[in-house]
Amino acid sequence: MFVEFIVPTKIITGVDAIFRLPYELELRDVKKPILLTDQGILSAGIYDLVKQAFDEYKFDLQVVYSDIPLETSVDSVKEAYRLFISENCDAIIALGGGSVIDTGKALRMMVSEGTDDLIALSGADNITKKGVTFVAIPTTAGTGSEVTGVAVIFDKLSNSKIAFASDFLIPDVAVLDPELTVSMPKKLTAASGMDALSHAIEAYIGIQSNEISKALAFRSTKLIFDNLINAIMDGKDRNARFNMLMASPMAGMAFSNSMVGIVHSLAHAAGAVLHIPHGVAISLFLLAGLKENLDRSKGDFSELLNAVRCDFLGSEDERAEEFLNAVSDLLKEVRCLSGLPSGLLEVGYKPEFEGRIIELALTDGSSIFSKVELTEEVARRMIKASL
Ligand SMILES: [Fe+2]
Repeated sequence: MFVEFIVPTKIITGVDAIFRLPYELELRDVKKPILLTDQGILSAGIYDLVKQAFDEYKFDLQVVYSDIPLETSVDSVKEAYRLFISENCDAIIALGGGSVIDTGKALRMMVSEGTDDLIALSGADNITKKGVTFVAIPTTAGTGSEVTGVAVIFDKLSNSKIAFASDFLIPDVAVLDPELTVSMPKKLTAASGMDALSHAIEAYIGIQSNEISKALAFRSTKLIFDNLINAIMDGKDRNARFNMLMASPMAGMAFSNSMVGIVHSLAHAAGAVLHIPHGVAISLFLLAGLKENLDRSKGDFSELLNAVRCDFLGSEDERAEEFLNAVSDLLKEVRCLSGLPSGLLEVGYKPEFEGRIIELALTDGSSIFSKVELTEEVARRMIKASL
């Protein structure tokens, strides 16, 4: 057994955690950060809260770039880069969901490498230094992007999503303040929560799984089962929001060190073809992907059942089945409460898309450490089971 595990992010979390950020920047000698965000964050009043924290500390937040689209692109990163350079900034703060945080990671790469050729840095480990201080403030709970070293940026020229991976992309600081997530709509809460659950479970059952990632993934699974429904039903339930904010980076740390699996491969492929958000795509394939893993992951599923309920006795086979039943029940309830789609047909799937989805899924790198090999037959079965 050989394990490498990296968790370099300082996590600051709790009620009013955002008010700690200016002090944290001062500690790091940051004078002029650029704050990246999007219009949704501005209109939801989330930026105002952050600004209030800076104002109270008398830290002048001078440079704000708020035009990041829902699906960030090479163009928007380049625009942020131009602003960073022209304003002579010395740090990056990303306030938002996965798209904004990925923009921050890409911007940091360009700054540290001193280039505006972002595409040249794509792939794994093509960055040579960490660069400027980078703070991630997630306003959703699920991607885990605030602690991971991967980013995905859409490139209009090639009409494809470009992936970047490096330990140097991992944020220095993550600020997790439940107040910044209370306005998150039910559907987004549900989709991002299911994404976190998939990170936890796929990290737990993958070939690269180890004792550290399992500890994080197990506890993350428990937090999600205990809190996701409450967070959807009452967005202002700060306790549920806080617990989901904890579950997300825990699953993120687990999967960024142990990888995900076939659920993510199919979700990435279907997301690209059907143009649906990542968390929605994940929710559609989660159960089918876990069922494909049942034979090879009975021991893991049986263990994970302890995170969900402790009153079920039975053989390992029965306990594994019961865990999948629990995931299925949670999905049903989440869909009922949030309006998440219950099948691919609801999001525009047509039989003629099957070939392209399978083709993309088979070349997706997410399942290289999956116990179940993603073959054409497995992918086809998962699509059929998720209609
Ligand atoms: Fe994911």
